[in-house]
Amino acid sequence: MTSTVTPTKTQYPRRPQVNATRTGRVQTGTASVSSSPQQPEAKSPSRPTLVTLAEVNKTYDNGSQALRNLNLQVNKGDFLFVTGPSGAGKSTLLKLLYGQERATSGDIIVDGQNLSKLRGNRLAMLRRRIGIVFQDYKLIPRRTVAENVSFVLWAQGFSRKEINRRLRPTLRMVGLQHKASCFPDQLSGGEQQRVSIARAVVSTPPLLLADEPTGNLDGDNSRQVIKILEKLNAMGITVLVTTHDEQLVRASNHPVVQIQDGRLTYVRR
Ligand SMILES: Nc1ncnc2c1ncn2[C@@H]1O[C@H](COP(=O)(O)OP(=O)(O)OP(=O)(O)O)[C@@H](O)[C@H]1O
Ligand SMILES: [Mg+2]
Repeated sequence: MTSTVTPTKTQYPRRPQVNATRTGRVQTGTASVSSSPQQPEAKSPSRPTLVTLAEVNKTYDNGSQALRNLNLQVNKGDFLFVTGPSGAGKSTLLKLLYGQERATSGDIIVDGQNLSKLRGNRLAMLRRRIGIVFQDYKLIPRRTVAENVSFVLWAQGFSRKEINRRLRPTLRMVGLQHKASCFPDQLSGGEQQRVSIARAVVSTPPLLLADEPTGNLDGDNSRQVIKILEKLNAMGITVLVTTHDEQLVRASNHPVVQIQDGRLTYVRR
């Protein structure tokens, strides 16, 4: 079972499609949703599924019910906003996808693997294929930008040569090639968040989860971060972003789901 479409109170306008690379690529839930009749060539119903949540419930040990009967399907190449009030369950959803928390019931399939059955090494291997960006960056303070980004590759056993080959273009992609030798406390908040994005994608994961990546940033920096995420999406990375920022969501034409009291509904497909 995948998600059913339920009309909700918050409706975001659909902007005209401006990016040819995104046109018609959206297929979430049970139906292909963004291809207009004028653009039949853009339909791609056969895009493979990357993430499936089927009737997922999450109750924490203290009895707090964070997610209730949640169904969601995300296809390869999607860019999905996850909105909802504080305490709704957004971070819990990402933690389940990353295997940091386990579902109380239901199935979560990421990249063909059922998370409820993964333990130890096999879970660690799957996590390597998921990039994560946090609201508070989580950079290592006593390491330079270059070291923070390359640490991931080093930990995964990449050669020095391969690390160097990947580092520079990744820093360039987030506009920080000139800050490679700086330490995190020498950077602005927006720059630190861009380092954390570079760290999340330097190993080219197919899936990027960003939990309130713009939560500590002003409008300009927030838009810059979303642009970078869109650039990564255009390169083929599937992106899930949680946000409180209604303006950011309105200014985009990406699909939006909302979580409220642990229940998910589609706001815009
Ligand atoms: N480790 C935990 N133990 C017990 N309850 C938790 C835990 N983490 C989250 N919760 C509860 O689960 C619910 C969902 O929390 P979650 O962090 O997923 O919300 P959120 O939508 O990300 O909120 P915010 O926008 O404030 O980040 C909340 O009621 C929260 O109190
Ligand atoms: Mg949260």
